[in-house]
Amino acid sequence: MSDPNKISEREVTDPAVYFNRRQFLQTGLLAASAVATGLAYRQLNPTSTGSVTTAPLAHLVTPAATTTVDNGFRATEPPTSFANITHYNNFYEFSTDKEAVAAASAKFDTKGWQVSVAGLVNHPRVFDLDDLLKISPPEERIYRMRCVEGWSMVVPWAGYSLSKLLALVEPLGSARYVAFESLLDPQRMPGQRGEVLNWPYVEGLRLDEAMHPLTLLASGLYGRALPPQDGAPLRLVTPWKYGFKGIKSIVKIKLVAEQPRTTWNEAAPNEYGFYANVNPEVDHPRWSQATEQPIGKSGRQPTLLFNGYAAQVGHLYAGLDLRANF
Ligand code: MTE
Repeated sequence: MSDPNKISEREVTDPAVYFNRRQFLQTGLLAASAVATGLAYRQLNPTSTGSVTTAPLAHLVTPAATTTVDNGFRATEPPTSFANITHYNNFYEFSTDKEAVAAASAKFDTKGWQVSVAGLVNHPRVFDLDDLLKISPPEERIYRMRCVEGWSMVVPWAGYSLSKLLALVEPLGSARYVAFESLLDPQRMPGQRGEVLNWPYVEGLRLDEAMHPLTLLASGLYGRALPPQDGAPLRLVTPWKYGFKGIKSIVKIKLVAEQPRTTWNEAAPNEYGFYANVNPEVDHPRWSQATEQPIGKSGRQPTLLFNGYAAQVGHLYAGLDLRANF
């Protein structure tokens, strides 16, 4: 949208507009900085691994190494290291500095966590986390993850398909979308004391996207409970969409009739759409999406349509103009 070296909006713009745009630019520049300035090698290989100690997951189901049907549950690329997955994070509730999120969130306490599942359903309910996790044993899902900023990872998540939870509450015929909300608590999430984004972080999916088996309600990674920086205790993972759809630390899930608001779309509507499907042919207004930098590796690689999950999810978008609905 704007060349960071040529920002002199103040002289030409009404102060109110300037203020909002400046806030947006700061946000946008943070998001874009990795691409705009070229990723520093240090950022690609975070040096501080710290000590991440979360409990091993009981009853983890590991998918067979060879499956006859390619359901997309098990990417064949080697997973990104645990150190990189847990020390190169986007989680603005704690910090806008990717390498500072781990330390800033280390003491995040999720005791007593509850998730409300409500809206257009037959059986609305507030789940204690334990009850929610008992709905199905955690399955290991090795998914590619592509951030809209142009970097990628391969993450061995653990969780179950969101469809299992939705089936339990029974969506009504009038439900067409699912809205998600992260925790709002500036005491426990210091980044929420600033206005870098509208809080709480919100996201949404079409109901058919939410019901797709790849859509994961993740409670762990690398066989252990989710560390705070990756969205403890519960987050969404939609591997064919840009990473910002993967809302962390979820407290509310609501079935609704109209397309819900989403945080990044509200922050910059022309840059971050509702769908956010990974697409190498639809550039971000400020950078190309044709290639990506795998974290922990040297050299960029081509980005794939739907992040390589076209066989599994392509039919969801038959007839949809992917450029208009970016
Ligand atoms: N969820 C919340 N609540 N807050 C955030 O700032 N960042 C998003 C997404 N989910 C974010 C969030 C973005 S931009 C990305 S790329 C992924 O989380 C990053 O997930 P990771 O840090 O586990 O790799």
